Amino acid sequence: MKIGIDEMRFATTPYYLSMTDLAHARGEDPNKYLIGIGQEKQAVVPPTQDIVTLGAQAAAKLPADKLKRVRTIIVATESGVDNSKASAMYIKHLLKLDDNIRVIELKEACYAATAGLQFAKGMVTLEPQTYVLVIAADIARYGLNTPGEVTQGAGAVAMLVAANPHVMTIEPGAVSYSQDLMDFWRPLYATEAMVDGKYSTNVYIDFFQHTYQRYLQQTGLSLEDFTALIFHLPFTKMGKKALESLLGDRDDQVAKRLRDQLKAEQVDCRSVGNLYTGSLYLGLMSLIQHGSVAAGDRIGLFSYGSGAEGEFYTGILQPDFHDHVEQLDGPLNARQQVTVAEYEDMFNQQLGMKPEDIEFDLTKDHSRFLLAGQRDHQRQYVDRD
Ligand code: CAA
Repeated sequence: MKIGIDEMRFATTPYYLSMTDLAHARGEDPNKYLIGIGQEKQAVVPPTQDIVTLGAQAAAKLPADKLKRVRTIIVATESGVDNSKASAMYIKHLLKLDDNIRVIELKEACYAATAGLQFAKGMVTLEPQTYVLVIAADIARYGLNTPGEVTQGAGAVAMLVAANPHVMTIEPGAVSYSQDLMDFWRPLYATEAMVDGKYSTNVYIDFFQHTYQRYLQQTGLSLEDFTALIFHLPFTKMGKKALESLLGDRDDQVAKRLRDQLKAEQVDCRSVGNLYTGSLYLGLMSLIQHGSVAAGDRIGLFSYGSGAEGEFYTGILQPDFHDHVEQLDGPLNARQQVTVAEYEDMFNQQLGMKPEDIEFDLTKDHSRFLLAGQRDHQRQYVDRD
Protein backbone atom coordinates (compact mmCIF):
# COMPACT_ATOMS: atom_id res chain seq x y z
CA MET A 1 0.00 0.00 0.00
CA LYS A 2 1.25 3.49 -0.88
CA ILE A 3 1.15 5.89 2.09
CA GLY A 4 2.39 9.45 2.37
CA ILE A 5 1.53 13.14 2.25
CA ASP A 6 -1.85 13.81 0.71
CA GLU A 7 -2.23 17.59 1.20
CA MET A 8 0.03 20.45 2.39
CA ARG A 9 -0.95 23.89 3.68
CA PHE A 10 1.06 26.67 5.32
CA ALA A 11 0.49 29.63 7.64
CA THR A 12 2.75 32.31 9.01
CA THR A 13 2.25 35.61 10.83
CA PRO A 14 0.86 38.71 9.10
CA TYR A 15 4.15 40.63 9.56
CA TYR A 16 7.72 40.45 8.34
CA LEU A 17 11.01 42.25 8.92
CA SER A 18 13.52 43.02 6.18
CA MET A 19 16.93 41.50 6.93
CA THR A 20 18.54 44.56 5.33
CA ASP A 21 16.82 46.74 7.96
CA LEU A 22 17.91 44.36 10.73
CA ALA A 23 21.51 44.40 9.46
CA HIS A 24 21.59 48.21 9.52
CA ALA A 25 20.14 48.26 13.05
CA ARG A 26 22.72 45.73 14.27
CA GLY A 27 25.69 47.40 12.54
CA GLU A 28 26.27 44.48 10.16
CA ASP A 29 26.89 44.49 6.40
CA PRO A 30 23.48 43.53 4.86
CA ASN A 31 25.29 41.02 2.61
CA LYS A 32 26.22 39.01 5.69
CA TYR A 33 22.52 38.38 6.28
CA LEU A 34 21.41 38.24 2.62
CA ILE A 35 24.32 36.13 1.27
CA GLY A 36 26.35 34.84 4.22
CA ILE A 37 23.25 33.57 6.07
CA GLY A 38 20.90 33.58 3.07
CA GLN A 39 17.85 35.23 4.62
CA GLU A 40 15.88 38.14 3.14
CA LYS A 41 12.77 38.46 5.33
CA GLN A 42 11.74 37.09 8.70
CA ALA A 43 8.26 36.42 10.07
CA VAL A 44 7.54 38.68 13.03
CA VAL A 45 5.24 37.31 15.71
CA PRO A 46 2.61 39.57 17.32
CA PRO A 47 1.46 38.63 20.85
CA THR A 48 -1.84 37.44 19.32
CA GLN A 49 -0.12 34.48 17.57
CA ASP A 50 1.43 31.32 18.96
CA ILE A 51 1.90 27.77 17.69
CA VAL A 52 -1.75 26.95 18.37
CA THR A 53 -3.10 29.80 16.25
CA LEU A 54 -0.50 29.21 13.52
CA GLY A 55 -1.21 25.47 13.46
CA ALA A 56 -4.97 26.05 13.33
CA GLN A 57 -4.54 28.69 10.62
CA ALA A 58 -2.62 26.22 8.41
CA ALA A 59 -4.90 23.22 9.09
CA ALA A 60 -8.11 25.22 8.48
CA LYS A 61 -7.03 25.58 4.83
CA LEU A 62 -7.20 21.80 4.29
CA PRO A 63 -10.23 20.39 2.40
CA ALA A 64 -13.16 20.16 4.87
CA ASP A 65 -14.26 16.69 3.72
CA LYS A 66 -10.79 15.28 4.42
CA LEU A 67 -10.48 17.05 7.79
CA LYS A 68 -13.69 15.30 8.83
CA ARG A 69 -11.97 11.94 8.29
CA VAL A 70 -9.01 12.77 10.55
CA ARG A 71 -8.75 10.35 13.48
CA THR A 72 -5.40 11.46 14.93
CA ILE A 73 -3.78 14.89 15.23
CA ILE A 74 -0.04 15.04 15.84
CA VAL A 75 1.50 18.44 16.54
CA ALA A 76 5.28 18.56 16.31
CA THR A 77 6.77 21.56 18.06
CA GLU A 78 9.56 22.82 20.29
CA SER A 79 7.62 26.01 21.14
CA GLY A 80 4.93 24.34 23.25
CA VAL A 81 2.51 26.53 25.20
CA ASP A 82 1.94 24.15 28.12
CA ASN A 83 4.12 21.59 29.88
CA SER A 84 1.21 19.19 30.19
CA LYS A 85 -1.59 19.78 27.71
CA ALA A 86 -0.96 19.03 24.04
CA SER A 87 -1.36 21.97 21.65
CA ALA A 88 -3.19 19.51 19.39
CA MET A 89 -6.09 19.63 21.89
CA TYR A 90 -6.57 23.38 21.43
CA ILE A 91 -6.19 23.02 17.66
CA LYS A 92 -8.80 20.26 17.46
CA HIS A 93 -11.21 22.52 19.36
CA LEU A 94 -10.50 25.56 17.17
CA LEU A 95 -11.05 23.47 14.02
CA LYS A 96 -14.36 22.20 15.48
CA LEU A 97 -13.34 18.61 14.81
CA ASP A 98 -15.05 15.55 16.22
CA ASP A 99 -14.21 14.53 19.80
CA ASN A 100 -13.57 10.94 18.65
CA ILE A 101 -10.02 11.91 17.81
CA ARG A 102 -6.63 11.07 19.31
CA VAL A 103 -4.46 14.17 19.95
CA ILE A 104 -0.79 14.29 20.89
CA GLU A 105 2.27 16.58 20.83
CA LEU A 106 5.76 15.42 19.82
CA LYS A 107 9.14 16.92 20.65
CA GLU A 108 12.71 16.45 19.48
CA ALA A 109 13.74 19.93 18.35
CA CYS A 110 13.30 20.52 14.61
CA TYR A 111 13.17 16.79 13.83
CA ALA A 112 9.78 16.01 15.43
CA ALA A 113 7.58 16.56 12.35
CA THR A 114 9.48 13.84 10.51
CA ALA A 115 8.83 11.45 13.40
CA GLY A 116 5.19 12.58 13.19
CA LEU A 117 5.00 11.66 9.51
CA GLN A 118 6.60 8.25 10.10
CA PHE A 119 4.26 7.52 13.03
CA ALA A 120 1.30 8.65 10.92
CA LYS A 121 2.41 6.30 8.16
CA GLY A 122 2.30 3.44 10.67
CA MET A 123 -1.19 4.44 11.80
CA VAL A 124 -2.53 4.58 8.26
CA THR A 125 -0.99 1.17 7.59
CA LEU A 126 -3.16 -0.18 10.44
CA GLU A 127 -6.29 1.77 9.45
CA PRO A 128 -6.02 2.64 5.75
CA GLN A 129 -9.34 4.48 5.55
CA THR A 130 -8.31 7.18 8.06
CA TYR A 131 -6.38 10.43 7.73
CA VAL A 132 -3.75 11.58 10.20
CA LEU A 133 -3.19 15.33 10.52
CA VAL A 134 0.46 16.20 11.18
CA ILE A 135 1.14 19.84 12.04
CA ALA A 136 4.66 21.24 12.34
CA ALA A 137 4.35 24.58 14.17
CA ASP A 138 7.07 26.69 15.74
CA ILE A 139 8.38 30.10 16.66
CA ALA A 140 12.16 30.33 16.34
CA ARG A 141 13.32 32.80 18.97
CA TYR A 142 16.93 33.53 19.91
CA GLY A 143 16.75 37.04 21.36
CA LEU A 144 17.41 40.62 20.31
CA ASN A 145 21.00 41.39 19.35
CA THR A 146 22.19 37.77 19.35
CA PRO A 147 24.01 35.98 16.49
CA GLY A 148 20.94 33.74 16.14
CA GLU A 149 18.56 36.70 15.69
CA VAL A 150 18.90 36.68 11.90
CA THR A 151 17.83 33.01 11.90
CA GLN A 152 14.51 33.53 13.70
CA GLY A 153 11.12 32.94 12.00
CA ALA A 154 7.70 31.42 12.60
CA GLY A 155 4.98 29.41 10.94
CA ALA A 156 3.18 26.12 10.60
CA VAL A 157 2.87 23.45 7.93
CA ALA A 158 -0.24 21.23 8.06
CA MET A 159 -0.02 17.87 6.31
CA LEU A 160 -2.56 15.12 5.86
CA VAL A 161 -1.13 11.61 5.77
CA ALA A 162 -3.24 9.02 3.95
CA ALA A 163 -3.25 5.89 1.81
CA ASN A 164 -2.86 6.55 -1.95
CA PRO A 165 -1.69 10.10 -1.22
CA HIS A 166 -1.85 12.89 -3.77
CA VAL A 167 1.46 14.64 -3.01
CA MET A 168 4.27 12.21 -2.14
CA THR A 169 4.56 8.60 -0.99
CA ILE A 170 7.05 7.98 1.80
CA GLU A 171 9.41 5.17 0.80
CA PRO A 172 10.55 2.57 3.34
CA GLY A 173 14.14 2.52 4.54
CA ALA A 174 14.54 5.84 6.39
CA VAL A 175 17.84 6.11 8.26
CA SER A 176 17.68 7.78 11.70
CA TYR A 177 20.67 8.71 13.83
CA SER A 178 20.71 10.22 17.32
CA GLN A 179 23.35 11.28 19.84
CA ASP A 180 23.05 13.04 23.22
CA LEU A 181 24.84 16.36 22.66
CA MET A 182 24.35 20.07 23.37
CA ASP A 183 24.32 22.12 20.18
CA PHE A 184 20.99 23.89 20.78
CA TRP A 185 18.49 23.57 23.64
CA ARG A 186 15.96 25.54 25.70
CA PRO A 187 15.69 24.89 29.45
CA LEU A 188 12.16 25.01 30.95
CA TYR A 189 12.77 28.47 32.43
CA ALA A 190 13.88 30.08 29.13
CA THR A 191 11.80 31.65 26.37
CA GLU A 192 14.81 31.96 24.05
CA ALA A 193 16.91 29.14 22.64
CA MET A 194 20.48 28.55 23.81
CA VAL A 195 22.83 27.57 21.07
CA ASP A 196 26.43 26.74 20.32
CA GLY A 197 26.02 28.12 16.80
CA LYS A 198 29.13 26.99 14.89
CA TYR A 199 29.09 23.59 16.61
CA SER A 200 25.43 23.12 15.64
CA THR A 201 26.22 23.66 11.96
CA ASN A 202 29.04 21.09 12.14
CA VAL A 203 26.85 18.49 13.86
CA TYR A 204 24.17 19.08 11.23
CA ILE A 205 26.63 18.31 8.41
CA ASP A 206 28.01 15.22 10.21
CA PHE A 207 24.51 13.84 10.75
CA PHE A 208 23.57 14.52 7.13
CA GLN A 209 26.67 12.73 5.85
CA HIS A 210 26.12 9.79 8.19
CA THR A 211 22.44 9.21 7.38
CA TYR A 212 22.79 9.87 3.66
CA GLN A 213 25.77 7.54 3.17
CA ARG A 214 24.11 4.81 5.19
CA TYR A 215 20.94 5.21 3.15
CA LEU A 216 22.93 4.68 -0.06
CA GLN A 217 24.63 1.56 1.38
CA GLN A 218 21.26 0.18 2.48
CA THR A 219 19.40 0.80 -0.77
CA GLY A 220 22.10 0.65 -3.43
CA LEU A 221 20.87 4.01 -4.78
CA SER A 222 23.28 6.76 -5.86
CA LEU A 223 23.19 10.54 -6.25
CA GLU A 224 21.91 10.17 -9.81
CA ASP A 225 18.67 8.61 -8.49
CA PHE A 226 17.52 11.84 -6.83
CA THR A 227 15.72 14.58 -8.71
CA ALA A 228 16.27 16.80 -5.69
CA LEU A 229 17.79 16.69 -2.24
CA ILE A 230 16.12 18.97 0.27
CA PHE A 231 17.18 19.91 3.77
CA HIS A 232 15.97 21.29 7.08
CA LEU A 233 16.73 24.99 6.57
CA PRO A 234 17.37 26.86 9.84
CA PHE A 235 18.74 29.49 7.42
CA THR A 236 19.08 28.87 3.70
CA LYS A 237 22.89 28.86 3.62
CA MET A 238 22.78 25.73 5.84
CA GLY A 239 21.26 23.72 2.98
CA LYS A 240 24.00 24.95 0.65
CA LYS A 241 26.69 23.91 3.12
CA ALA A 242 25.14 20.43 3.40
CA LEU A 243 24.75 19.95 -0.35
CA GLU A 244 28.26 21.20 -1.07
CA SER A 245 29.63 18.77 1.53
CA LEU A 246 28.40 16.11 -0.87
CA LEU A 247 29.10 17.67 -4.25
CA GLY A 248 32.51 19.23 -3.56
CA ASP A 249 33.81 20.57 -6.87
CA ARG A 250 31.54 18.38 -9.03
CA ASP A 251 30.15 20.46 -11.85
CA ASP A 252 28.33 17.93 -14.06
CA GLN A 253 24.63 17.87 -14.97
CA VAL A 254 23.63 16.00 -11.80
CA ALA A 255 25.42 18.50 -9.55
CA LYS A 256 23.94 21.42 -11.50
CA ARG A 257 20.43 19.97 -11.21
CA LEU A 258 20.73 19.43 -7.45
CA ARG A 259 22.05 22.97 -6.92
CA ASP A 260 19.13 24.43 -8.93
CA GLN A 261 16.57 22.40 -7.00
CA LEU A 262 18.08 23.53 -3.69
CA LYS A 263 17.63 27.14 -4.86
CA ALA A 264 13.94 26.34 -5.47
CA GLU A 265 13.64 24.89 -1.97
CA GLN A 266 15.22 28.02 -0.51
CA VAL A 267 12.83 30.56 -2.14
CA ASP A 268 10.06 30.57 0.50
CA CYS A 269 12.39 29.80 3.42
CA ARG A 270 14.39 32.94 2.55
CA SER A 271 11.32 35.04 3.15
CA VAL A 272 9.91 33.41 6.31
CA GLY A 273 12.95 32.31 8.33
CA ASN A 274 13.36 29.27 10.51
CA LEU A 275 10.19 27.30 11.29
CA TYR A 276 12.11 24.67 13.29
CA THR A 277 9.87 21.57 12.80
CA GLY A 278 8.23 23.02 9.70
CA SER A 279 11.31 24.22 7.79
CA LEU A 280 11.96 21.04 5.82
CA TYR A 281 8.29 20.88 4.85
CA LEU A 282 8.05 24.54 3.87
CA GLY A 283 11.11 23.66 1.78
CA LEU A 284 9.21 20.81 0.12
CA MET A 285 6.30 23.16 -0.67
CA SER A 286 8.76 25.69 -2.09
CA LEU A 287 10.49 23.03 -4.22
CA ILE A 288 7.12 21.92 -5.62
CA GLN A 289 6.21 25.50 -6.47
CA HIS A 290 9.55 26.74 -7.81
CA GLY A 291 11.56 23.66 -8.82
CA SER A 292 11.71 21.40 -11.89
CA VAL A 293 9.90 18.38 -10.55
CA ALA A 294 7.50 15.89 -12.13
CA ALA A 295 5.37 12.94 -11.07
CA GLY A 296 7.49 9.87 -10.34
CA ASP A 297 10.53 11.91 -9.25
CA ARG A 298 12.38 10.75 -6.14
CA ILE A 299 13.08 13.47 -3.54
CA GLY A 300 15.64 12.91 -0.76
CA LEU A 301 14.80 14.69 2.49
CA PHE A 302 17.21 15.41 5.34
CA SER A 303 15.54 16.21 8.64
CA TYR A 304 17.62 17.52 11.55
CA GLY A 305 16.80 18.33 15.16
CA SER A 306 19.36 19.59 17.62
CA GLY A 307 20.21 17.61 20.67
CA ALA A 308 20.62 15.79 18.20
CA GLU A 309 18.77 13.63 15.72
CA GLY A 310 18.98 13.32 11.96
CA GLU A 311 16.94 11.32 9.47
CA PHE A 312 17.35 10.82 5.75
CA TYR A 313 14.38 9.44 3.87
CA THR A 314 12.89 9.57 0.42
CA GLY A 315 9.57 10.14 -1.25
CA ILE A 316 8.10 9.77 -4.72
CA LEU A 317 5.97 12.58 -6.17
CA GLN A 318 2.49 11.49 -7.24
CA PRO A 319 0.64 12.28 -10.50
CA ASP A 320 -1.29 15.40 -9.42
CA PHE A 321 1.01 16.53 -6.58
CA HIS A 322 0.93 20.14 -7.71
CA ASP A 323 -2.83 20.52 -7.14
CA HIS A 324 -2.63 19.45 -3.50
CA VAL A 325 0.04 21.82 -2.26
CA GLU A 326 -0.82 25.42 -1.42
CA GLN A 327 0.80 28.07 -3.63
CA LEU A 328 2.56 30.52 -1.34
CA ASP A 329 3.43 33.58 -3.42
CA GLY A 330 0.05 35.24 -2.74
CA PRO A 331 -0.07 34.77 1.05
CA LEU A 332 3.60 35.70 1.49
CA ASN A 333 3.25 38.85 -0.60
CA ALA A 334 0.16 39.90 1.40
CA ARG A 335 2.18 40.27 4.62
CA GLN A 336 2.85 43.69 6.10
CA GLN A 337 6.43 44.93 6.58
CA VAL A 338 7.34 46.24 10.04
CA THR A 339 10.22 48.41 11.22
CA VAL A 340 12.95 47.15 13.54
CA ALA A 341 11.36 49.16 16.39
CA GLU A 342 7.94 47.55 15.74
CA TYR A 343 9.57 44.10 15.60
CA GLU A 344 11.37 44.69 18.91
CA ASP A 345 8.14 45.86 20.47
CA MET A 346 6.27 42.71 19.37
CA PHE A 347 9.20 40.54 20.47
CA ASN A 348 8.88 41.95 24.01
CA GLN A 349 5.08 41.72 24.15
CA GLN A 350 4.90 37.91 23.88
CA LEU A 351 2.97 36.15 26.61
CA GLY A 352 5.99 33.97 27.26
CA MET A 353 6.13 32.88 30.89
CA LYS A 354 4.07 35.71 32.37
CA PRO A 355 1.77 34.20 35.04
CA GLU A 356 -0.72 37.11 35.23
CA ASP A 357 -4.06 37.76 33.53
CA ILE A 358 -3.59 39.67 30.30
CA GLU A 359 -5.76 40.84 27.39
CA PHE A 360 -4.23 41.55 24.01
CA ASP A 361 -5.40 44.19 21.54
CA LEU A 362 -7.12 42.18 18.79
CA THR A 363 -7.81 45.08 16.43
CA LYS A 364 -4.52 44.95 14.51
CA ASP A 365 -4.14 41.26 13.68
CA HIS A 366 -6.77 40.19 11.13
CA SER A 367 -5.96 36.46 11.24
CA ARG A 368 -8.83 34.02 11.77
CA PHE A 369 -7.47 32.44 14.96
CA LEU A 370 -6.04 34.66 17.71
CA LEU A 371 -4.56 34.35 21.17
CA ALA A 372 -6.73 36.86 23.07
CA GLY A 373 -4.76 36.64 26.30
CA GLN A 374 -4.62 34.70 29.53
CA ARG A 375 -7.16 34.38 32.37
CA ASP A 376 -6.70 32.29 35.54
CA HIS A 377 -3.52 30.80 33.96
CA GLN A 378 -5.56 29.61 30.95
CA ARG A 379 -4.82 30.74 27.42
CA GLN A 380 -7.82 32.35 25.71
CA TYR A 381 -8.26 31.65 22.00
CA VAL A 382 -10.65 33.29 19.56
CA ASP A 383 -12.01 32.07 16.22
CA ARG A 384 -13.13 35.08 14.20
CA ASP A 385 -15.06 32.96 11.71
N1 CAA B 1 29.04 39.22 2.78
C1 CAA B 1 28.80 37.90 2.53
N2 CAA B 1 28.98 36.92 3.49
C2 CAA B 1 29.37 37.32 4.72
C3 CAA B 1 29.64 38.66 5.04
C4 CAA B 1 29.46 39.65 4.00
N3 CAA B 1 29.67 40.95 4.23
N4 CAA B 1 30.01 38.73 6.33
C5 CAA B 1 30.00 37.45 6.82
N5 CAA B 1 29.60 36.61 5.84
C6 CAA B 1 29.42 35.15 5.93
C7 CAA B 1 30.51 34.44 6.72
O1 CAA B 1 31.66 34.23 5.92
C8 CAA B 1 29.80 33.17 7.10
O2 CAA B 1 29.76 32.31 5.98
P1 CAA B 1 30.15 30.75 6.15
O3 CAA B 1 29.24 30.20 7.21
O4 CAA B 1 29.90 30.17 4.80
O5 CAA B 1 31.56 30.70 6.59
C9 CAA B 1 28.34 33.62 7.33
O6 CAA B 1 28.22 34.91 6.70
C10 CAA B 1 27.95 33.75 8.79
O7 CAA B 1 28.84 34.62 9.42
P2 CAA B 1 29.58 34.22 10.78
O8 CAA B 1 30.39 33.01 10.59
O9 CAA B 1 30.26 35.42 11.31
O10 CAA B 1 28.33 33.77 11.67
P3 CAA B 1 27.73 34.27 13.02
O11 CAA B 1 28.75 34.23 14.12
O12 CAA B 1 27.02 35.54 12.84
O13 CAA B 1 26.66 33.08 13.32
C11 CAA B 1 25.18 31.25 13.00
C12 CAA B 1 25.99 32.36 12.31
C13 CAA B 1 26.12 30.33 13.76
C14 CAA B 1 24.41 30.46 11.96
C15 CAA B 1 24.19 31.95 13.99
O14 CAA B 1 23.26 32.71 13.25
C16 CAA B 1 23.41 30.97 14.85
O15 CAA B 1 23.87 30.59 15.92
N6 CAA B 1 22.17 30.57 14.41
C17 CAA B 1 21.33 29.65 15.16
C18 CAA B 1 21.83 28.23 15.14
C19 CAA B 1 21.52 27.49 13.86
O16 CAA B 1 20.65 27.86 13.08
N7 CAA B 1 22.23 26.39 13.63
C20 CAA B 1 21.99 25.57 12.47
C21 CAA B 1 22.23 24.10 12.74
S1 CAA B 1 21.21 23.57 14.11
C22 CAA B 1 19.69 23.31 13.40
O17 CAA B 1 19.57 23.22 12.22
C23 CAA B 1 18.50 23.20 14.28
C24 CAA B 1 17.80 24.52 14.28
O18 CAA B 1 16.90 24.75 13.49
C25 CAA B 1 18.22 25.52 15.25
